[in-house]
Amino acid sequence: MALKLLVNASLLVIPIGGSLGALFGIDAHRSATGQPPLFTGDGSDGNGGSTGGGGSTGGGSGDSGHTVNNGVTNSMYCQNSYGISPPSDGQLYTLNPNQWGVTSSSEGALCMNITTNNNETYPSKYTAPQFSVTWQYKPGPETQPVHAFPNIMVDGVLPVELGKMSSLNLDLHWTYGVGNTPAETTIESELTAQTLNANVAVDMFFDSDQTIAQNSTTAKYEVMIWFANYGTSTDPIGSQVTSRELNGTSFELYAGTNKATGQNVFTWKATEPTERFVGDIYQLITDLYSLPGDLYPSSEDYLGIFSFGSEAFYSDANVTFWVPELGIDIEKS
Ligand SMILES: *[C@@H]1O[C@H](CO)[C@@H](O)[C@H](O)[C@H]1NC(C)=O
Ligand SMILES: *[C@@H]1O[C@H](CO)[C@@H](O)[C@H](O)[C@H]1NC(C)=O
Ligand SMILES: *[C@@H]1O[C@H](CO)[C@@H](O)[C@H](O)[C@H]1NC(C)=O
Ligand SMILES: *[C@@H]1O[C@H](CO)[C@@H](O)[C@H](O)[C@H]1NC(C)=O
Ligand SMILES: *[C@@H]1O[C@H](CO)[C@@H](O)[C@H](O)[C@H]1NC(C)=O
Repeated sequence: MALKLLVNASLLVIPIGGSLGALFGIDAHRSATGQPPLFTGDGSDGNGGSTGGGGSTGGGSGDSGHTVNNGVTNSMYCQNSYGISPPSDGQLYTLNPNQWGVTSSSEGALCMNITTNNNETYPSKYTAPQFSVTWQYKPGPETQPVHAFPNIMVDGVLPVELGKMSSLNLDLHWTYGVGNTPAETTIESELTAQTLNANVAVDMFFDSDQTIAQNSTTAKYEVMIWFANYGTSTDPIGSQVTSRELNGTSFELYAGTNKATGQNVFTWKATEPTERFVGDIYQLITDLYSLPGDLYPSSEDYLGIFSFGSEAFYSDANVTFWVPELGIDIEKS
């Protein structure tokens, strides 16, 4: 079954509809055209890099709105791409509005707000700064329907050989709502009434070579976990190969090939929108080893990139994607 994967029809129309991979690839283009890299840290490969250190590259210049209250700073970033790496005494992260699909003919806007603690200390060692993204775009051309993948990326701990990881704990709470303010809870009918087309996803890249694993265009495998997908534009690549339950959430696994990059793409898609998830997603990686065929990653491959965000296609009204809680703990054995 795995060796004869059919690409589903909608993907022929929307070749990269189900893949976030191309998003990071534009770094190469940016560097070739003399623009600054999307991701600060090391910048040369589109990964946050292992030199995040003090992370002093972010937070300052570049924000378009800025308020400080009770030890907390809110900064707004509306640039197409801008890597923000807030200093932290724990796990480092880089955030980016990443409006990679926006062209001169695109209509709409996106701004990312990031809330950082001035004391650089968060509730746990793995807690990310809170962020929200308010956006609206009109539908793009069929050949390029995606406008942005605003996201947060793990810095400093990758690459890691899959077999040398013991757990990958994810603690996640997000909401999507219509309007310019964060919604307490996601009401799907309100989103579909505005024809929101977007997904909410973890995006990872693997390769047997640890350097290539950090390159989202050349890594052999892209593995995603979709916690929600709204609208008809967002379909996973390939066909369903299996399913599993993880701490109360049912996921279906889709496998296929990204025609644009030749990458093998795996998508664990939650059967229902899941705005809170706590669990060890390492099992969603190790499950892949034992599937039939040679298309699948093995324990000897490396995880080179880990990010979480929302792929923004279009919406009739402003929507706000809010991530009040996120912790990513990659444990090595
Ligand atoms: C990632 O791969 C692309 C495509 O081969 C290449 O152009 C780019 O330079 C690579 N990036 C790095 C840092 O090697
Ligand atoms: C750091 O700042 C945050 C936000 O003001 C606060 O909630 C937290 O208690 C502070 N942590 C420490 C260790 O001071
Ligand atoms: C919609 O969101 C964009 C980007 O955040 C913002 O610039 C714009 O002012 C918002 N539009 C309205 C009508 O509030
Ligand atoms: C984002 O930040 C701007 C500037 O501080 C503020 O006006 C806006 O309300 C914020 N939006 C959200 C969703 O928090
Ligand atoms: C399962 O989810 C619950 C509720 O979010 C959480 O409290 C618990 O720690 C999770 N269990 C595991 C094994 O991760």
